[in-house]
Amino acid sequence: MDQISSYVSRKSGSFPGLMARKSELCLPVSTKPKPKFRVKALLGHCLYRRVVIWTLVVIVLLSITLFNPRLTARSRDVLDLVHGSKLEADNTQVPKIAGVQKQDNDEDSFQDVVEETQENDEEKDQEILDEEEEEEEVSTENVNGPHWLRYKHLDGYYNGLRALVPFSEYRPEYPKVSPTIRASEPSPTVHHSELPKPSAYVPQPAYDSEEYLKKYVPVKRCYIDEDSKLPAPDLYAYNGVPQGQPNAAIGSYNLLGIREDVCFDRFGRYGPYGLGYDLELGGTGEALDTEHEGSETVWEKSGKINYEDVDWAAAQERCYKTNEGRFFTGNETRDFELAQAGRQRMDRIAVVIRTYVGFQWTSHALLNFRAMISELNLRSGGEYDVHFLLHVRDNNAPIWADPATVQNILDVNVPPEFHGLCTLWSEAQMKLYYPGNFGETFENPSNGDIHGVYRSAHMPLQHFAMMHPEYAHFWNWEMDMRWTGSYYEFFDRLGKWGAKQSRQGMWERASKYYVPGLHGSWENFTDLVEHETQASGKRPILGPVVFTGKAGLEEGEIFLPASCATGSDMTQCGVGEDADLITLNPLFDADESGWVFAGDVTGYDKQYQKPPRRCAIVTASRLSRRLLRVMHEETWRLHHSMFSEMFPPSMALHHGLKAVYAPHPVYLDRRWPQQEIENAFNGGKDHTSGGHGSPFDLTNEHNHKGTTWYYNSEFAGLLWRRWLGYAQMDGRGDNGGRAGEGTKRGGPKEEENPSNSGRLCLRSMLVHPIKWENPAEQE
Ligand SMILES: *[C@@H]1O[C@H](CO)[C@@H](O)[C@H](O)[C@H]1NC(C)=O
Ligand SMILES: *[C@@H]1O[C@H](CO)[C@@H](O)[C@H](O)[C@H]1NC(C)=O
Repeated sequence: MDQISSYVSRKSGSFPGLMARKSELCLPVSTKPKPKFRVKALLGHCLYRRVVIWTLVVIVLLSITLFNPRLTARSRDVLDLVHGSKLEADNTQVPKIAGVQKQDNDEDSFQDVVEETQENDEEKDQEILDEEEEEEEVSTENVNGPHWLRYKHLDGYYNGLRALVPFSEYRPEYPKVSPTIRASEPSPTVHHSELPKPSAYVPQPAYDSEEYLKKYVPVKRCYIDEDSKLPAPDLYAYNGVPQGQPNAAIGSYNLLGIREDVCFDRFGRYGPYGLGYDLELGGTGEALDTEHEGSETVWEKSGKINYEDVDWAAAQERCYKTNEGRFFTGNETRDFELAQAGRQRMDRIAVVIRTYVGFQWTSHALLNFRAMISELNLRSGGEYDVHFLLHVRDNNAPIWADPATVQNILDVNVPPEFHGLCTLWSEAQMKLYYPGNFGETFENPSNGDIHGVYRSAHMPLQHFAMMHPEYAHFWNWEMDMRWTGSYYEFFDRLGKWGAKQSRQGMWERASKYYVPGLHGSWENFTDLVEHETQASGKRPILGPVVFTGKAGLEEGEIFLPASCATGSDMTQCGVGEDADLITLNPLFDADESGWVFAGDVTGYDKQYQKPPRRCAIVTASRLSRRLLRVMHEETWRLHHSMFSEMFPPSMALHHGLKAVYAPHPVYLDRRWPQQEIENAFNGGKDHTSGGHGSPFDLTNEHNHKGTTWYYNSEFAGLLWRRWLGYAQMDGRGDNGGRAGEGTKRGGPKEEENPSNSGRLCLRSMLVHPIKWENPAEQE
């Protein structure tokens, strides 16, 4: 059935009547009716939408039946935590009950740590000094609300290009990285009168090098246009980092192999794809109203590329066809033959972006996905393909029967340049594809349908994977995520890092946030986790887990590689094996975690306990074909399912697949004492992020608001828009300061001022959620 819709969508790039003007279809943001936005964000396709509605119903019922003001107040506080910033603009009441309790706990444990430290003679002096230092970072003012409101804001993020220094001279404002570099020392002020110049940034392998050619099939260059006149452009980076810019508190560049000695401004990042020049020239017209001194450099080599009539699906397909000989095919018989002879072949990877009917495409969204396709596919000789999985909400739309219906949906909902990359799906289709009785559910707090996107977002991805045997791995991706650096560097390095990880202690390491300033090197972290696991009295997990009521797979549990055979060095178990699952937040034990959907488990015998579960919040992750095959079989044959964020990790756990949490750099907006990061983010059972005390507990999720990567983050959007050159409320002020509060900072006036350090230059980082970009979308 889906072949038709897939066929139509692939061909649609060449359908007549599609050449509607770009300006119409990318839906200029300033013409949107404004108040709609907020309501939509709250009740639209929001992950926690149904919980909000459900909670509202409960509140109404409670207040009607009980008339109890205390109870009602508490529910409102909890509600405030569920949907984060969207309500906070109207409701300045921060989650008092939860916040105050948490604050007390933290103070206790903080005290414990100080006492413990003082017992350790060798490190005594240094540690006390550090604690004192950190103590100073905490405001003594009486601040109401969550504990982190007391931590001072960091300023270094807003140091711009005129403060750029070579990495060797760079001193982060925060956190302390080693005893020799005292982060709290005021960093020397740097002010260049001349702006530094960026250079082309190419994180792909040196395809022309002898070394590469000895091992792999030569790579042929790819072009945006059919006539091979327009090669895919370079993006541009600056050598160095603005002085004082904070380091990531969580995660590490070095560990993952991502460069930390370069930074990106908006023109180096997006200029090659149409930022900073007019629609008439084939650009987007974005950022013309922002500071732009010296931006011309990024177009010197490529010129300002005209993106007017680009068909990305065709460009991607051409690139792959030209380079077909480099890759495995997905036909197992053929691939076995290919692996025996000739130069090394490579796997192909799909990036599958989830979108939906009604999504408001903006110029910035265009820029982001052009960057993704260009960097991942065209500049890698077809190693990656980008796809959009378009959710059609109308279950009566005959999307797999009628090409005209499909075309109409595309015309209305997707900019023409991406039409050919779309695969349409609907929940009605999932009901047809996965028929039968799914049995009982332990808990269904959202009260949603088992085939619905909210509870089973994995179903259409499983189906997609079954229809595309040519890909070995699938990145599940979302529309409101941005990476400030090169997408190739990000996806490639995470894949390579995942393959290097040992399976020994894998699940235990993955359950904990990595805070290098506190935990030391990755080896230190590995040792620490091993000790904590021993102390907990639990046996480390290796291979498939056994539990009462478990049903096996048809092929059996066959996923441990030869390196894990009995008698071999277990530190090498799984080293060199591609990870089946790579997540971007820890894989926490959902049991008793307080995460709202921890009990949404379907199809298991309810006379037994719930099966063991792992979960990673934010569904962006990489899944292997074999993991998706396991999930597919568990769905169609055993009728098992779990809430979207929990199903893939739990299936990997049950069947002994390789799963890792990649500790990518996550930044904090405030000067958290590092022990407090541990207390809040690894405050669950046995110093992990899971079980009782989890940061994913509804009442603890506020801790993520000042991070750059979490669905309720306030800081991500603020930082991202400042980087784009728009003035923003700085989130500071009396009583700690929250999103939308404070003073308007940044933007052209400030960045153009000669005494200012200029436009922002950030290192590669993920930001999420980005719900709007140009302030015109918000006003
Ligand atoms: C897979 O490859 C083998 C060997 O090259 C070939 O004989 C077979 O027809 C291929 N199967 C499919 C489904 O294309
Ligand atoms: C990390 O490990 C090294 C080498 O074993 C050791 O010298 C160092 O003290 C450890 N650091 C921490 C923070 O535990």
